Amino acid sequence: MKEKLLSYLVCPSCEGTLELYVSKSEDAEIMEGALRCASCASSFPVTGGIPRFADLEQVESDKRATAAGFGWQWQHFTQEDEQYAEQFLGWIAPVQAEFFRDKVVLEGGCGKGRHTQLAARWGAREVIGIDLSVAVETAFAATRSLPNAHIIQADIYHLPLARQFDYAFSVGVLHHLPDPRGGFISLASKVKPGGHISAWIYGAENNEWITRFVNPVREKVTSRINQRVLLQLSKVPAACVYLATKLIYGPLNRNGSGLAKHLFYNDYLSSISTFGWREQHTIVFDHLVAPTAFYISREEFETWWRDVGAKDVVIGWHNKNSWRGIGSL
Ligand SMILES: C[S@@+](CC[C@H](N)C(=O)[O-])C[C@H]1O[C@@H](n2cnc3c(N)ncnc32)[C@H](O)[C@@H]1O
Ligand SMILES: [Zn+2]
Repeated sequence: MKEKLLSYLVCPSCEGTLELYVSKSEDAEIMEGALRCASCASSFPVTGGIPRFADLEQVESDKRATAAGFGWQWQHFTQEDEQYAEQFLGWIAPVQAEFFRDKVVLEGGCGKGRHTQLAARWGAREVIGIDLSVAVETAFAATRSLPNAHIIQADIYHLPLARQFDYAFSVGVLHHLPDPRGGFISLASKVKPGGHISAWIYGAENNEWITRFVNPVREKVTSRINQRVLLQLSKVPAACVYLATKLIYGPLNRNGSGLAKHLFYNDYLSSISTFGWREQHTIVFDHLVAPTAFYISREEFETWWRDVGAKDVVIGWHNKNSWRGIGSL
């Protein structure tokens, strides 16, 4: 961790001031040490350059299972893709890259850190990515050279942060939580008055084929098996998606014949048609590995924004299968 991260941290138990004890540094990074609360007895280790506020041995079993799947995923699929920036802007639209400039930003569930990295490159004053899983190891490696990027291992429900963020966002995370609305409220509680929050979640609408046919397989089989086995098995559906997007969805959407709009799930499949094999395999694996996944209706999503008292809320339909929202607090 970089020393300046300390000014953003508070004790997750009592919101007291944390004191930093350093036992090993490497250039700008404190690699080993501890964060001790000045008010209560809590102490949190810094290991491998990452402050650890969540102990995976201690968290509830459903959260641990989710963290195990995604932790493995983001330690395996570490690739970078030049299309991540455009994809990210699609998830947080109408936010543009310039919006990040000089903002203090929080990412809830940063995975391998691809969006923390983009926020830092787009000029955020500081960006803090938090994740429960060992994905933080990949995120730390991906962002350690960026002086304004920070990674923390923490549970989104118990954030070791004060209410000091200009902007918080969460992409593809809240629907994997045991209580998605609770995770959203927790994230929003760290945004200062006048700041903004964005969220992107799976939609209930238009996804009945997933909730009826894919979910039972995901819940009973694919999220429970060894991730190495799933890596191999998931190549079969990934190959189907890959062939369909490369041979049908991509070409028909590009040739302007108007036929594409009649294709099944066209908006989504055409949106991923430009990705190569490895990224499409990541996407398919991602859908199958999660033990918990809620598909959330627009009506329910709207209530979250009312619950946090958000103003100027804009909720949009993304690829006709998911919801994105932004509002101010
Ligand atoms: C589908 S991944 C998305 C990662 C990243 N937002 C992205 O788009 O690349 C979901 C992430 O949520 C994280 N996650 C799940 N439960 C969490 C929790 N309770 N607290 C923090 N992160 C959590 C997982 O570890 C995983 O990295
Ligand atoms: Zn404390």
